[in-house]
Parts: sequence; C-alpha cells; structure tokens
Amino acid sequence: MSDEALANLMTENRVFAPTAEFAAQANATAEMYDVARADRLQFWADQASNLQWEQPWSEILDWSDAPVSRWFVDGKINAAVNCVDRHVAAGNGDRVAIHFEGEPGDTRTITYKDLQELVCQAANGLEELGITAGDRIAIYMPMIPEAVVAMLACARVGAAHSVVFGGFSAEALRSRIEDASAKMIITSDGGFRRGSAFALKPAVDEAAAASPTIEHVLVVKRTGQDVDWNESLDIWWDDLVLKQSTAHVAQGFDSEHPLFILYTSGTTGKPKGILHTTGGYLTQAAYTHRVVFDIKPESDVYWCTADVGWITGHSYITYGPLANGATQVMYEGTPDTPHKARWWEIVEKYGVTILYTAPTAIRTFMKWGDEFPAQHDLSSIRLLGSVGEPINPEAWMWYREAIGGNNTPIVDTWWQTETGGIMISPLPGVTGCKPGSAMGPLPGINAEIFDDAGQAVGNGSGGYLVLTEPWPGMLRGIWGDLERFKETYWSRFSGMYFAGDGAKWDEDGAIWLLGRVDDVMNVSGHRISTTEVESALVSHPMVAEAAVVGASDETTGQGIVAFVILRSGSEDGPGVAKILRDHVAKEIGAIAKPRQIMIVAELPKTRSGKIMRRLLRDVAEHRTMGDVTTLADPTVMNLISQGIDSGPNED
Ligand code: PRX
Repeated sequence: MSDEALANLMTENRVFAPTAEFAAQANATAEMYDVARADRLQFWADQASNLQWEQPWSEILDWSDAPVSRWFVDGKINAAVNCVDRHVAAGNGDRVAIHFEGEPGDTRTITYKDLQELVCQAANGLEELGITAGDRIAIYMPMIPEAVVAMLACARVGAAHSVVFGGFSAEALRSRIEDASAKMIITSDGGFRRGSAFALKPAVDEAAAASPTIEHVLVVKRTGQDVDWNESLDIWWDDLVLKQSTAHVAQGFDSEHPLFILYTSGTTGKPKGILHTTGGYLTQAAYTHRVVFDIKPESDVYWCTADVGWITGHSYITYGPLANGATQVMYEGTPDTPHKARWWEIVEKYGVTILYTAPTAIRTFMKWGDEFPAQHDLSSIRLLGSVGEPINPEAWMWYREAIGGNNTPIVDTWWQTETGGIMISPLPGVTGCKPGSAMGPLPGINAEIFDDAGQAVGNGSGGYLVLTEPWPGMLRGIWGDLERFKETYWSRFSGMYFAGDGAKWDEDGAIWLLGRVDDVMNVSGHRISTTEVESALVSHPMVAEAAVVGASDETTGQGIVAFVILRSGSEDGPGVAKILRDHVAKEIGAIAKPRQIMIVAELPKTRSGKIMRRLLRDVAEHRTMGDVTTLADPTVMNLISQGIDSGPNED
C-alpha cells in the first residue's frame, strides 16, 4: 500500500456500533472474549465439543514438538460425518445444503440427505479404485457441487485432497501432483465461464501423462464437450460413482490425520504445500463460521463467492458451513454473465442473508455503478463479509450502503491459507465495525504487532503482524519440508508465527492490515510470488533476466508489472510482451499474467547485485523515485522510467 493510501486509511474514524436488534440475536457474546482469555485451551475444547467425535481427546494441545502442534490429542473424528451425516441423523436431512446455480442458468437443489448419498457413493467409488487412508488426491474442478462432494469423499476415506484452482496451468497441476505424490485426479470435462464452456480435461491429460504416480483420473461430465480418453487412466464419474451404494460406514481418524494440502505461493519459485489436519482445523472452521457469520442454520441462506480452489472455499464453502448444517448458494460463473446484475439476481432469487466476498469484487461492482444492485431486492441481506486483501474505506462504505441497505454489519476477516480459519475480525452483534479495519483477534486467538526488534508496539504504531499462541486451525507444516516451515514462519520472531503482513494498531486499539511485507503480491485477493513469475519469465528462451513487482491497482489491489531483459539476439517488438505474458499463463496460469511487461536494457541493482524492487515499484506506480544512491549505476533508472508510460499491455 502506498504511503498516501495508508495516510488516508488511518484518518478513518467512523465506527458502526452493533444495533440492539442484531445484538439481541447474535451467536457471539462479549463474554466469549473473557472466557477465552481466562482459559484459552478450555475455550477451544468447548468449541471442539460442538463436533461429533468417535473417540474423545486425552489432551487439548500438545505443543512439545513446536512449531508442529497437535490438537485434541488421541481424539478420533471423521470430517465428512460431521459435515453431512450428523445433520441427517439429527432429522435435518431435508434441509437444503447447496442451492447450485450454473452459469448457463441450470440449477440443482441438494439437501443434506442428497449430499450424504452422493458423498457415500463417491467414497465407495474411491475405495473401489483402491484409495485408502493416507493417500493424496488432486482435485481440479470448476465450481460445481461435485467439487464439494469430492472433497468430502476424500475426507470420509481419509485421503488428503489437494485442490488445485481450475485457473492454474497443466504445469502447475503437474508440479503439485508430483510434490504430494498424488495417486489420482478428480476433474471434469470443463465448466462454464463468461458465457462459454472452458475445458479442464486437456490440462489434466497433459499433467497426468507426466505424472507417474497417477493411477486414475475420475471425470465429471459438466459441459458435454469432446474429451480425449485414456482407457488406462480415465473413468467417468457417472460410471463409477453413481453406480455405488448410497450407504458407507465411515471410520473416525486421528485428530491429526491429514485432511488436505493446499498449495500457496511463498517467496521462492516453489509453491508451499500447506498441510492441515482434521480435528483442530474443523473445530476452527466451524467455530469461526458460527460466530463471525452469525449463522442460523434453520433460517439463513449463506453465500461465499470464493472458488473451492482457494482456502476460503475450503473453510467457508465446504467445511465451516457444512459442519454447521447451513444452507448455502454455490454459483459457477462470473458476475457479469449474462449481465452485470447476475449476483444481485441470485441474492434475490434465493433470499441470501449472508454474503462473503473479496474487496476486488466490491470495487468492480462500485465501478459498474449502483444501478445493477438497485435492480433487485437485496433486503434479505443481514450480514456482509470481506476477505483476501485490505478493504479501503470507500469500498467498505459502498458495500454497506449499496448492498447492505446501510444497516448490516460488515465483517472484514483477516486470515491466511496457513491459519486455516478466520483469525482477526469483528464479532457481529458485539464489536463495532470501522470501515477498513479488521478490528481485533477473535476470542481464542492472540495477535501482536512487533517492531523490527521483536518488541510489541502500542496503539498508534505499526509493524509486523505476529500470532503469539498456537491455534487449532494452524498449519501443521509444509508438505515434505519441515525446515522451510520453520524458516518461513517461526524464525523471524523466535517461537512466534510471523504472518508476513504489516499491520497497525489505531489509537483505539483496532487493527489495520497494511498488506504483505515480503515478495508476495496480492492480485484480486490471490497470492502470487514475484519470484514464481520471474522464474516463469526466465524459463522462456528469449529472456535473460526478469524482475517483477506488485504495483497498486485500483480494482485488483495489486497488478503484476514485469521488467525484462532480453537475451542478445532476441529483438523487442510489438508481439514480444504478448508472447511472454502467454508464456507465464502457460507456466503458472492466467491469474499470474503480468499486467504490463517492460523490456529494459538493465535492472537497478546494488553494488552487491541485489535487484532494488523498491525503485521498480516507484516506476510502476508512477511515483517520484526514492533514493538511488546505492545503485551500482544510478543512470539505469532514468532509462527505465522513460518507458513506463507505454501503459498496460493486456490482451
Ligand atoms: O496479506 C493478507 C491477505 O491475504 C493473505 C493470505 O492470502 P491467502 O493465504 O491466499 O488467503 C486469502 C484468504 C484468507 C494475507 O497474508 N489478506 C487476507 N485477508 C485479509 C488480507 N489482508 C487484509 N485484510 C484482510 N481481511
């Protein structure tokens, strides 16, 4: 965030106190903060008790092997049973679990009973293919109910899923399969997006052909498009799953049994496989979903607009809402198809009461104009949520006024793939909300802001966000790389979790998140590493060197700007930027395509050869350049800054 943006943000001092009406019915209470402070571990044990355990735990937390934690030690639990079967057993089988809205307008209504049958069938299918507890399965799917069914079926049989966002490339899928030694891929022929069918199977075919560990590819038919078929690997979902029995007896797994791996970008070129286990993760997902979203399973219609390929989709589409027996909307496509009021049409159609989305979407709607939400009755909405990046006060206010009828609380929820669930957020009905602030840590969570020396700073000061005590949903490691886990999160401030985010306490003790402090960009709420994009660029034969920075972007938070030196013999020309942008899309995925590529003769380096990204960011954001005196050749920056005004070279 630029200094100017930060200064604007910090002058925000409006507070929206909870209304008496909301407070009277809220799931959260002010006492929860006191109870958790008095006995944090017992507080978490009380949250865990809301789940169904096959065997009780003997110890709440074992932190003797820090930073690897064990929560609810010796407890046995099945996540799928908690998300599905127990609601049916409690007599709620007829409650809708998922209102599915396909982009072309097709719909499906899936009750908890339907979901139980589907998950049991899929679990039986996986077992027929020889999948057993401890295996890893890659899931590469569009936003269709089978994505959730596949995740729950894996959980049911004890196989860890590794969901790979459908926008990632074949190469990104392959490398994730390799890292986790996945045995199987669950995918679909494709999905619908922006008014047409896109394909997933070709990327799967390419990844599977290069992955010796893959034994089966299970394919859901979503679009009906032609697919290549490999008899030795491929099997249609309908031929395997829908022929199975709808009964399946699930076993409880150890609380620390791996539930899933989810890859996220770090500061190196290699994504990190974030490992989550079962009991603690599910406890935190269910608890936070219940108190932060104030969910009333009997009456609410909840809609989280994330993709299941990200952690938000894991915790707040699959595990949190289903563990709580909630009814939710799942939408396949884009917000502007077939028209820019599609989301608001869906809100009205299903009577959505709770909406959870990202600032980048909110800013896009703001740009489109008030007339689109105004076309629909949004009065059912009683709570709004935001996630993924700092939300600027202007977007926050627009969200409240244009979508929330100027009377709903907005929960700005800070958390990460690594934290498993929400960590910092207002508690609706209890905490006031300030536009742009995530307010404070939830009951049970301890956060501090440290200065460079590791000293906690006070109100009115900023520094690094640190989590000072273990929490149930915390990552248990980076798949196959304990050293990297320790080094990345636990070495900056000894024994404490370093989140990689800057933050500030305001004068009232509310937390303001200020963005990443490392080389990780946040583009539309998606984490992308500068190094990963640089590695993709230099893997192209034309490129000698590349430096990538995240530049502020009005809509997407940050945009990717790349500075590239071509190899001698490669000429700059009109098509070069496109070739390189397409190459990045092929290596990583379309989300990592740079907004702008500048071909330069030199990069700004210190005398020791370190690229000074700070200066490149100044150029990319059209700012007056900072101090250049440490550069080996200070004249380099003049040449670079002359080229930036050529503007974005998007397709
Ligand atoms: O920089 C923070 C930002 O997103 C990062 C985590 O990204 P990811 O693991 O992909 O998870 C995104 C969804 C939980 C954080 O390090 N971030 C997330 N939520 C917020 C946020 N920044 C400011 N405010 C938030 N509410």
